[in-house]
Amino acid sequence: MEKPEKLIVDGKRLDGRAPDELRPLKIEAGVLKRADGSAYVELGANKVLAAVYGPREMHPRHEQQPDIAVLRCRYAMAPFSVEERKRPGPDRRSVEISKVTREAIEPVLFLELYPRSVIDVFIEVLQADAGTRTAGINAAAVALADAGVPMRDLVSAVAVGKVDGTIVLDLTKEEDQWGTTDMPVAIVPRKKMITLLQMDGHFTGAEFKQALDLAFNACERIYEAQRQALRERYAIKQGG
Ligand code: CDP
Repeated sequence: MEKPEKLIVDGKRLDGRAPDELRPLKIEAGVLKRADGSAYVELGANKVLAAVYGPREMHPRHEQQPDIAVLRCRYAMAPFSVEERKRPGPDRRSVEISKVTREAIEPVLFLELYPRSVIDVFIEVLQADAGTRTAGINAAAVALADAGVPMRDLVSAVAVGKVDGTIVLDLTKEEDQWGTTDMPVAIVPRKKMITLLQMDGHFTGAEFKQALDLAFNACERIYEAQRQALRERYAIKQGG
């Protein structure tokens, strides 16, 4: 796509959203039969699945940790998830996102409860439109809770940025591509602890504060949607 002349017209973004508006969000827990826990997240045009296996015995055994469980995260994009076919298999980007996802989630887990074990989190991006790492973290947190893994809290994540000089919430692919700044953030809501903060581009100190505030507010709403998905899953179980 060619760079549009303007990304914000009369205070509205190209998809009609206000600068502080989230894309439509849908979260469902327990969508996969064979995983111990799973979740499906749609955020605008993003479609992301997370599957959790474990805690279970770590193989290969030499990767076991004597005192704690290892959290293993694998973020992957389906070849058909992006405009230009993505070659299957890991690349630099997916290795990086897998690592930051693990680091965003680890602080809420009680890994010391499961020595020599592994907890596997697989994140599969089926359709991508910017914000897949944050959508993946949201899905992974719900999938871990669905698996019954003991957690201090969930983790909620969203990207904020700057487009045509305006601070915006939850960037689309066009905004990510043509905007000035993209800043994905993950938060442990109850502690208000930041477990992921990356930034492409630049902000003044005041803009950074404004963007972070926007991310915190949006994460409150995402947190509520995550909890609602888990409540609905539990209600279905109760009914048989
Ligand atoms: O997805 P996220 O914003 O977390 O990560 P990114 O590296 O900033 O990528 C932004 C977007 O670029 C992705 O969500 C995809 O829509 C797109 N992308 C792509 O079209 N082809 C790739 N190989 C990688 C990313």
